[in-house]
Amino acid sequence: MDPNTIQATAATPEQSAPHAPLPVPELPLRVLLDLVTDCNLKCPMCIVHGGTDDPRLKEFLKKSMTVENARKVLDEIMAAKPLIMPGMWSEPTVNPDFKQHVRQIKERGLTVAMNTNGLKLNADMAQFLVDVKFDSVMFSVDAVTPETLQKVRGIKRLDLLHQAVERLMATRGDKALPRIGVSMTLQPANRHERDAFVEFWTQRVDVVRIGEIYEHGHFSGFIATGKRVPCQSLYTTLPVNTNGNVSLCCLDGFNEYNMGNVFKDGVKGVWHGPRFTAMRRLHERGEWDKIPICKTCDRWSSYQYEDIVRDGLLIRRTTEYTYYNRIDRIKNWHENLHGTHGDPSVKLKEAGCAS
Ligand SMILES: C[S@@+](CC[C@H](N)C(=O)[O-])C[C@H]1O[C@@H](n2cnc3c(N)ncnc32)[C@H](O)[C@@H]1O
Ligand code: SF4
Ligand code: SF4
Repeated sequence: MDPNTIQATAATPEQSAPHAPLPVPELPLRVLLDLVTDCNLKCPMCIVHGGTDDPRLKEFLKKSMTVENARKVLDEIMAAKPLIMPGMWSEPTVNPDFKQHVRQIKERGLTVAMNTNGLKLNADMAQFLVDVKFDSVMFSVDAVTPETLQKVRGIKRLDLLHQAVERLMATRGDKALPRIGVSMTLQPANRHERDAFVEFWTQRVDVVRIGEIYEHGHFSGFIATGKRVPCQSLYTTLPVNTNGNVSLCCLDGFNEYNMGNVFKDGVKGVWHGPRFTAMRRLHERGEWDKIPICKTCDRWSSYQYEDIVRDGLLIRRTTEYTYYNRIDRIKNWHENLHGTHGDPSVKLKEAGCAS
């Protein structure tokens, strides 16, 4: 089925909906701006760059978002102060105009958070990120041994990744920003290193994130239980590709579900446009099986979270992610970085910790 014909089937009466249409904010709360399609790694787990013989890849590569096009989007959304993430399935720092992109995001008073593989994080880049007050940098490290790194990231040089994290920590010094974290995406090759990873990195950075891998159309490390609900991503997140086309969600890595083009129709035109609206209606009616990518996906269950305070850490758990936040470094986890999750201060007060 061509995913972009789905909207034609989406016009059944709303009174049959198990959910009435849910509120859609005027502008998205989170905007993913894919600055570039390329990456300097080919991690086998990556849904875009991992399948090196994937026929979709050739067409997809070697594209960048221009600073001018990004500016149009930022100008339209800045009043709503969304969180900006400058990448999807790519390495944001390989965009040749990365610094200019970041400057124009920060000049508009917006919060910016990125995942990075850290390979481009030299002294100059570290200084830039500190000077520009980049809000959050999450290094994808994924392993505690070079052998495991080879299996999950396709390289052996764990030392380079450690140096990149240490460089940014040292350059930041006593300053608040960026908030610095490391992440591990769990899969059979590294699952046995999970505890050692958390133990090692919680001594060093502000936050450690452990996530489950998405493969073969779902997250294999958990089973979603309970009644399925409409996926929050459709009400919060606008994933913009380099050419302005909008994906259904970040899991739509090759933009097979095109919600419209923000460079042509503006953010509001796409966000409230017929395709996004049709997808939301299908979710509200419980007809997610009409959207092939949603049918088997379990991310809808990962928006609920619980907070646990233990051993100097605020541990935030969803089905997909666990975040180990150091309580002594919690101050730079500011409100605009909470994303679709809430403020941790209630839990910290309950546990008798100053936040
Ligand atoms: C897709 S990458 C893009 C940013 C950057 N290139 C990086 O690796 O950090 C963002 C995050 O997704 C994780 N990731 C990669 N493949 C994944 C998969 N199949 N399922 C879940 N997460 C994945 C990476 O480990 C990384 O932490
Ligand atoms: S570094 Fe990130 S974008 Fe690049 S291949 Fe790995 S997971 Fe994918
Ligand atoms: S259910 Fe999964 S595939 Fe569908 S919109 Fe949500 S995250 Fe994307």
